[in-house]
Amino acid sequence: MKQRILGKTGRAVSEIGLGTWQLGTKWGEPFNREEAWSILEAAEAAEISFIDTADVYNGGKSEETIGEYLAAHPGKFYVATKCGRRLKPHSPEMYTPGAIAGFVEDSLTRLRLERLDLVLLHCPPSSVFARDDIFAELERQKRLGKIADYGVSIEKTAEGLQAMEYDISAIEVVFNMFRLKPLDELLPRAAEKELGVIARVPLASGLLTGRYRADTVFGPKDHRSYNREGASFDKGETFSGVPYELGLEAVEELKRLFGTQDLAPIAIRWVLAHPEISVVIPGASRASQVPENVRAAQLPPLTREQLRGVEEIYDRYLRQIIHPQW
Ligand SMILES: NC(=O)c1ccc[n+]([C@@H]2O[C@H](COP(=O)([O-])OP(=O)(O)OC[C@H]3O[C@@H](n4cnc5c(N)ncnc54)[C@H](OP(=O)(O)O)[C@@H]3O)[C@@H](O)[C@H]2O)c1
Repeated sequence: MKQRILGKTGRAVSEIGLGTWQLGTKWGEPFNREEAWSILEAAEAAEISFIDTADVYNGGKSEETIGEYLAAHPGKFYVATKCGRRLKPHSPEMYTPGAIAGFVEDSLTRLRLERLDLVLLHCPPSSVFARDDIFAELERQKRLGKIADYGVSIEKTAEGLQAMEYDISAIEVVFNMFRLKPLDELLPRAAEKELGVIARVPLASGLLTGRYRADTVFGPKDHRSYNREGASFDKGETFSGVPYELGLEAVEELKRLFGTQDLAPIAIRWVLAHPEISVVIPGASRASQVPENVRAAQLPPLTREQLRGVEEIYDRYLRQIIHPQW
């Protein structure tokens, strides 16, 4: 597995990492510790060294299982975690330095670590990206040695540009063949500032695997059923904000462009074609998906024609809808 440097953190990480929102559960299903553990084993076997998690994933079980795994396999993974989404209501005034300090302590406990590798604000309300007191607290946590680095996870590119006013080390953003806006300004600016860039939702919640159809059924508690219009959180996290039927049409075009039905490794390879990206983090709800996604690392680089073809499909089907929103 190739390594890339995670920006200013200076840490070398595998270019393909693991997303753990769905660790040990297909979204909405009860947590299965054995499955979670085997996903982490599969990641280690595939030479993945970067894990993305958050304090809220599976009510803390994602962090807890990673902590347990790290206790048994010390130092195997660099772990990025996120905080803020435990705040109820999730509103700007709930963001306080004290709350951040508490979240750091709780993640340290669940992950069984003495210092967190990377803490990201977990898509807070937009105004929080301009809050001196919150970034000062993250800086204080760094000075105290509780965290090695901090950064932000964002919905909109403008939020990332705002956060770059502070001394962040990394930024996490939705970036995939259905989400090209970061190419305009965010990624060039991040490269200038030597930020680590974590590309999330690379498969557009699975849509870009090419395996879904108009009659594919998602469980009632799966966000791909209930959050298509943003009922619970930003709809950009569900199929990348792409209306499902339209996404299926664009996927058919991509299959023709690449001459294959199996788009998952290509979707991940496409993200890695951009040198500003430090690590791409496909999520896996089953251990078998991990080696499937790591195959992307073995594919030859995409050709200029293929890259242009992706842009043309985006322009034809999605630009008008996606570009103004995120
Ligand atoms: N706000 C934030 O900061 C934020 C938001 C979203 C995600 N994230 C992070 O980013 C990670 C990745 O995003 P994501 O999981 O939402 O989307 P994703 O990586 O685009 O899609 C993951 C889903 O795709 C399907 N899949 C994955 N590999 C597959 C394969 N080889 N074959 C067939 N299907 C496959 C699985 O669906 P099934 O479950 O149906 O099998 C899986 O749950 C998350 O795990 C999380 O760590 C962060």
